[in-house]
Amino acid sequence: MRYQPLPAKFHTANRQKLAELIPEHAFAIVDTADVLRRAGDFEYPFRPDSNFYYLTGIDESEAVLVITPHHPNQRLREVLFLRETSEFTALWEGQRLTQDQATKRSGIQTVLWLSELESFLEQLVGKYSTVYLNAESSLESGPLNPASRRAIKLHAQLPTHDIISSVAIMGDMRTVKAPEEVDQIRRAIDITGRGLAKAWAALKPDVPEYALEAELTAEFTRQGATGSAFSAIIAGGQNATVIHYSTDAAEIGADDLVLFDVGAEAGYYAADISRTVPASGRFSDRQRAVYEAVHKAQAAGIALHKPGATIISIDAAMRTVLIKELVSLGLITSEQAAGPDAQKHLSQYYSHISHHLGLDVHDTGSPVEELKTGMVVTCEPGLYLAEEGIGVRLEDDILITDTGCEVLSKSIPSTPDDVEAAIAGHRQ
Ligand code: GLY
Ligand code: MN
Ligand code: MN
Repeated sequence: MRYQPLPAKFHTANRQKLAELIPEHAFAIVDTADVLRRAGDFEYPFRPDSNFYYLTGIDESEAVLVITPHHPNQRLREVLFLRETSEFTALWEGQRLTQDQATKRSGIQTVLWLSELESFLEQLVGKYSTVYLNAESSLESGPLNPASRRAIKLHAQLPTHDIISSVAIMGDMRTVKAPEEVDQIRRAIDITGRGLAKAWAALKPDVPEYALEAELTAEFTRQGATGSAFSAIIAGGQNATVIHYSTDAAEIGADDLVLFDVGAEAGYYAADISRTVPASGRFSDRQRAVYEAVHKAQAAGIALHKPGATIISIDAAMRTVLIKELVSLGLITSEQAAGPDAQKHLSQYYSHISHHLGLDVHDTGSPVEELKTGMVVTCEPGLYLAEEGIGVRLEDDILITDTGCEVLSKSIPSTPDDVEAAIAGHRQ
C-alpha cells in the first residue's frame, strides 16, 4: 500500500462514539464520496469521503456504512456495503477488497455487497423513524454527491421520517486527534518538507512556477503520499500577493520572493505548510524586513497555543504585532496604528486566519471554540504588499498539548537565516 493504514480499532472506536449518539428510533447511513468524471470516460483519482474514512478505514469507491445501534440483531448493528468484485472488474480495474479484507481493515464484522443495500434499507425505514445522513444539512451548498442524492431521494420517499445530517456530529468527533492520526499528519508534514527541499533545489531565475510544482509533487509521489492535500500555491513576486493563487504558470523573476503554500496528504491526512524564500538565495533588505515582521507575529501567535486559547484570540494577538510592524515598515503612521481604525489599515495587507487540520485541510472545528489537547491547527500569518510585489506567508502545523503546543513542522527552515542557508545548501 501507499500508506500505513490506521488500525481497525481506531475506526471501531469512532463508530462506537457515533453509535452512542444515535437515539433508539434512528439509524445512520454514511456514504463515501463520488467518483468524479474528469473528461470523456476518464475519472479523477478517487478520494474517500473524510467522515466515511474516519469511520471505516475503507478507501474504495461505491461503499456505504449503515449503523443501527439499537438493532435487535447484534450482527446487523454495523454493516458495510461494498461493490462486488468480479473477474471483469479485476481485469480492468484491479482487485477490489474482499469481504474478509474489508473486515480486517475496518473491524466491521458484517460486510455485504452493494446489491443488497436497498432491500436492507427498506426493512430499516419500516422500523426506525429517523435517518442520519452524511450530507450537509443545506443541500444547496456544493455539488451533489452520493449522500446528498440519497437525502433528496429519502425526503421524497419518506415524507414523515426525520432526515437529519450527521455532518456536525462527525465534525465534533473529529476535532481532537488520536495519536495515530497525529502520526499520519507528522508523516504528511515530513513528506511536505522533503518536497519543499526538492523544489528549492530547482529554484532559479526564469524557472516556471509549475516546474517547481513538478519537483514538489514528484517527491510527494515518491514518498507514498496519497496526493496533494490541496492545489499547490507556488507564487513568485506579485503572484504571492494573491492569497489563493494556484495557477503556478509564471516564470520566477531573479529578485522575486517565492511563496510556497503546499501540503502532502499521507493516508488521507493533510499537511499545510507555507514558506517564502528568495529566488536569488538572499533576501533584499526590504524583503527581509517584511519577512521578519511576519515571523515575529507568527512567533507571538505560536507562543499562545495551549488548551483554552482560541484561534480567533491568537489571530487577534498576531494582528496587534502586525499593526506595530506596519509602522516600522513605513506602511502606516503611528497615529493610524494607535487609532480606532488600525484593523482597517491592516486589512489591506493581511487577510488570513488559521484553521484546524486533519483529514480535511480546512478540518472540522471552529475558530471560536477553545483549543484542547490533541487538536491540530495551523498558524499562518502573512503580509501582502501588492504595490511592492512582496507577499510573505508563514504557516506551521501545531499540535496542542497538555502544557502548550508542539510545532509539528519545526524542522522545515523558517527563520530568514535558516531559509537562506537551506537554499544555499541545495545549490552546492
Ligand atoms: N493552503 C490553504 C490554507 O492555507 O488554508
Ligand atoms: Mn492553511
Ligand atoms: Mn496553506
